[in-house]
Amino acid sequence: MMPRTEPLRPALATAAPAAWPLQSRLELAALPGAVPCARLHTRQLLWEWGLTALAETVELLISELTTNAVNASAKSAGSQSGGPRAGGLPVIQLCLASDRRNVLVRVWDSSRETPRRQDVATEAESGRGLLLVEHLSAQWGCYLPEASAGKVVWAIVTQAAI
Ligand SMILES: Nc1ncnc2c1ncn2[C@@H]1O[C@H](COP(=O)(O)OP(=O)(O)O)[C@@H](O)[C@H]1O
Ligand SMILES: [Mg+2]
Repeated sequence: MMPRTEPLRPALATAAPAAWPLQSRLELAALPGAVPCARLHTRQLLWEWGLTALAETVELLISELTTNAVNASAKSAGSQSGGPRAGGLPVIQLCLASDRRNVLVRVWDSSRETPRRQDVATEAESGRGLLLVEHLSAQWGCYLPEASAGKVVWAIVTQAAI
């Protein structure tokens, strides 16, 4: 499924909290270590939520999205000062939510650039992250929050998708 960007509202991703009664939010400095931290957090949280069946898929997805968010933050550092910072470092935010069956992942970074899925050559070593996100998720997309800097890349993992 192709990503959705504004002006199309990602209705599921921005749905009222009642639609996603289980919620978690983690802020991490935008450094490479954020990626394993995000993975560990996800594994633990999905265990707590009784959703271990989805854990591997969500972890992989989060690995790709947080890697991209860290890279985007590094690129935009200096050119943009919007968004929260931790001790002077740019941060990324990881929000996980669930309706006890499906998992909504949202990763915020301070860059206004939106992801671009590429057609990659067979021998290329990079450029497959979003292909994987597309493959692992039932739906994914990106939106620019109206009230704040940066952007959110989101994806939904459903029981049916695994
Ligand atoms: N969070 C993001 N912010 C800005 N650009 C992004 C983001 N995620 C992905 N992109 C863009 O989309 C491209 C494709 O991403 P991806 O498929 O993960 O491949 P790779 O990360 O290996 O380049 C990236 O090279 C980047 O230009
Ligand atoms: Mg990537």
